[in-house]
Amino acid sequence: MNLSGKVAIITGVSTGIGRATAEALLARGAAVAGWGRRAPEGLTHERFQFFDCDVRHEHAVAEAFTNTQRELGGEIHILVNNAGVGLFGPVDGFKSEDWLAMFDTNVHGLFYCTKAVLPQMKRQHEGHIINVASLAGTAGTANLAGYCATKYAVRGFSDALFKEVRPDGVRVTCVMPGSVETNFGGMQPGAAPDPHKMQPADIAAAIIHALEAPAATMISEMQMRPANVK
Ligand SMILES: NC(=O)c1ccc[n+]([C@@H]2O[C@H](COP(=O)([O-])OP(=O)(O)OC[C@H]3O[C@@H](n4cnc5c(N)ncnc54)[C@H](OP(=O)(O)O)[C@@H]3O)[C@@H](O)[C@H]2O)c1
Repeated sequence: MNLSGKVAIITGVSTGIGRATAEALLARGAAVAGWGRRAPEGLTHERFQFFDCDVRHEHAVAEAFTNTQRELGGEIHILVNNAGVGLFGPVDGFKSEDWLAMFDTNVHGLFYCTKAVLPQMKRQHEGHIINVASLAGTAGTANLAGYCATKYAVRGFSDALFKEVRPDGVRVTCVMPGSVETNFGGMQPGAAPDPHKMQPADIAAAIIHALEAPAATMISEMQMRPANVK
């Protein structure tokens, strides 16, 4: 897909991978609707607009979608389901409200956003949905059971969805990064890039690669790892 002039929705746009993807899409000439609870600080661009949206609530997603179409026009070409939270700890003692909050954001929110955009993408017979899962959706890790369960769910959803909507001209790519240097899970990025982690811009570049794949090609899954292991 030539990204110039396309309209993209990105969830969880305040920081990290979501923000970097917004910047990468803007640099390619796309218009970006950034959905989230907080706007990305200092990101001003004539083709960028922030829409308040807590993805855990279906009515908030529906409202953000209506507002996006009103402001940016009816056509929506790209959805990047990126919003996510990571809450970690052993299963015994893990708070049930934390479990629910993670599923509400990482799984249910992603479903609400996908459901909101699909009718329009099907009408256009054109669209690309990028789901940001994780390597935590490919193998379990001790003390990450809830987070892994959400990302396995995202991977399964993506795999089924691409088979469902490919005949409608809609592509689906599941992106599964390993460690990325962001604020995720309470981490603090250092002043200089950590050589053992990927940077948000690296994941954004992979997303652009999937979006720009030749017309005859759909990249269904991408796994990414730091090249320099600790
Ligand atoms: N960093 C990693 O190592 C890594 C590895 C693999 C996968 N991932 C995945 O990458 C995605 C982005 O994470 P990140 O690393 O870029 O971390 P991040 O900087 O913490 O970004 C997470 C984003 O999600 C947003 N968000 C959280 N809950 C939300 C909600 N209910 N409604 C709307 N937005 C919400 C946050 O917005 P607020 O500002 O409102 O909190 C923030 O913009 C996540 O899905 C994560 O699981 C991260």
